[in-house]
Amino acid sequence: MIPTLGVFDSGLGGLTVLREIHCQLPGVSVLYLADTANVPYGDKPIEVVRDLALRLSGHLVSAGVSVIIMASGTSTAAGLRVAQDRYPDLPIVGTIAPGARAAVLESSGPIGVLATNATVQSEAFTQAVQTQDPTRLVVEQGCPAFVPLVEAGRAGSAEAEEAALTYLLPLHKAGVQSIILGCTHFPFLLPALHRAICRIGDPEFRPCFVDPSAEAVRDAARFLPISSSLLAGPSSFAATSDPDLFQRHASELLGETISSVEWLTL
Ligand code: DGL
Repeated sequence: MIPTLGVFDSGLGGLTVLREIHCQLPGVSVLYLADTANVPYGDKPIEVVRDLALRLSGHLVSAGVSVIIMASGTSTAAGLRVAQDRYPDLPIVGTIAPGARAAVLESSGPIGVLATNATVQSEAFTQAVQTQDPTRLVVEQGCPAFVPLVEAGRAGSAEAEEAALTYLLPLHKAGVQSIILGCTHFPFLLPALHRAICRIGDPEFRPCFVDPSAEAVRDAARFLPISSSLLAGPSSFAATSDPDLFQRHASELLGETISSVEWLTL
């Protein structure tokens, strides 16, 4: 059976998008690729991430999917446009424009962005927000410790809370009212982020966190050829290293046992 939606990320982060797919499009068949051999993307040069995004997109195209979601802010920043140019007949959706759109609607004040270093360096979120609202102040903060913590199953650790505090302080200082979770791994860190906000202890600092995945899935759903109930089928998973480890961690994070994970060579 040909999967309907193709989704990829460097690892576990795209599962936050998969959760949203299950919510909005229950039963739709998804092929999820986790490039665990190359995680984290956020510390890599943009050209390297772009090349990986093209390879993963190419694999999903060969698998026959109808729509691709780049479930990675870093891949979106580095490779969305080139992938769309390479595969003009296939809808490919990223997370940055949907996240920016949701944040602009969420508040009228300054917007903070927590993302990988590579995404922050690209300034893709600032550009996407200011395309919608040219006067809006955007403060971007790189969070290099976060992805390795999620991948190691330590999103709830004291170390994650300390890192969250470090990354939130500049956003607190800038007075942001909403914060885009600009990397798909970061929704798994929400409990640590909320604990860090309590420690900052400023009653005025109650930012709303914006997870781009809901908007990204809504965008992708618009391209689905027919009603999602007719596209139902089992989801499948592949990882570029240690599929058993990915299966274990992904099952823990999703709260359900996922089907077997294939080994993918890019
Ligand atoms: N989850 C991806 C993102 O949204 C990739 C993070 C990484 O591997 O550094 O940016």
